[in-house]
Amino acid sequence: MKKTIGVLTGGGDCPGLNAVIRAVVRCGLRYGFKTKGIRNGWQGLIEGEVETLTDFSVSGIISRGGTVLGTSRTDPLKNPADFEKIRNTMKRFNIDALVVVGGNGTLAAAHDIATLGIPLVGVPKTIDNDIPETDMTIGFDTAVSIVTEAIDRLHTTAESHHRIMVVQVMGRQVGWIALKAGIAGGADEILIPEVHVTIDDVCLNLKARYAAGKKFSIVVIAEGTPLQDIGDYPVPECDRDECGHEKFVGAGNLLGRELERRLGIETRVTNLGHVQRGGTPTAFDRVLATRFGVAAVEQIRMGNFGTMVALQSAQIVTVPLESIVHRLKLVEPELYTVAKTVIGGKR
Ligand code: F6P
Repeated sequence: MKKTIGVLTGGGDCPGLNAVIRAVVRCGLRYGFKTKGIRNGWQGLIEGEVETLTDFSVSGIISRGGTVLGTSRTDPLKNPADFEKIRNTMKRFNIDALVVVGGNGTLAAAHDIATLGIPLVGVPKTIDNDIPETDMTIGFDTAVSIVTEAIDRLHTTAESHHRIMVVQVMGRQVGWIALKAGIAGGADEILIPEVHVTIDDVCLNLKARYAAGKKFSIVVIAEGTPLQDIGDYPVPECDRDECGHEKFVGAGNLLGRELERRLGIETRVTNLGHVQRGGTPTAFDRVLATRFGVAAVEQIRMGNFGTMVALQSAQIVTVPLESIVHRLKLVEPELYTVAKTVIGGKR
């Protein structure tokens, strides 16, 4: 049966989203399916902002960062009337099934919407790499590359000035980016939300480096790492987004200030922020996104709804959306042990 697929991207953008959109359109065409692009995540489905995607319209987008469809953090089930609007939009544009490309929030909503009878397949994306049941999410590899390059650049200036450089990276609840890029960039300390390390321990490590003649240090910190021993810091309203989530502007600054105070070593702080999410995707992310997009269309063709495509041991598989909601994939303890093994100093 000929179908019309609707594709949407929700939550924070990341490199690789356009490669999924392109793959959905191109794979769909092989089966004679049409694809409609839904603008700005769930919001476009509620508001009826839908455009036709063709082979031509997705030409040349595989290398582009962001999402040509736009995105939003709209919660589609916040307002009960919105669910009826979603049904109406799907009816109006003859959309039979959805490909929902999102992170934890978008996929949790997708799960709830699927249980209400909307046929859909999820695709995991987020630079944070914190979605369970998949080894990698789209965007993570690119973010790790960007942060690794930044650490390389910070090394030369840190060394020249004999400074401590604190690098704050994204990761609200997990430290995947900090850990992988920290290992790849040869960081001297890596602080992540999953593992509590005291400031005393960090100071001991950095002092040992100085004692050994290494007069500079690179400290990588994931934005969501709690810094209990420095003390609680109140989060003003202006440092929260529209969903009430902390924007995490402070962890790196707080840590940098404290290290300089305790060690008496000149310290600078770099918050890499949204640079980590922007620009062109790596080859790995383009290929993963393409494989996910093709697999999602295959699932729609087979009528295997309420699922998410995933990468497990280099194979593309599908898992029930139910298995990923309200869960987080924390860093692998083995990877953390590797980082600790190669970090110099006392720890
Ligand atoms: O969830 C992905 C993410 O990039 C987090 O790492 C980060 O905390 C957050 O999004 C930033 O969100 P926003 O783009 O809304 O500032």
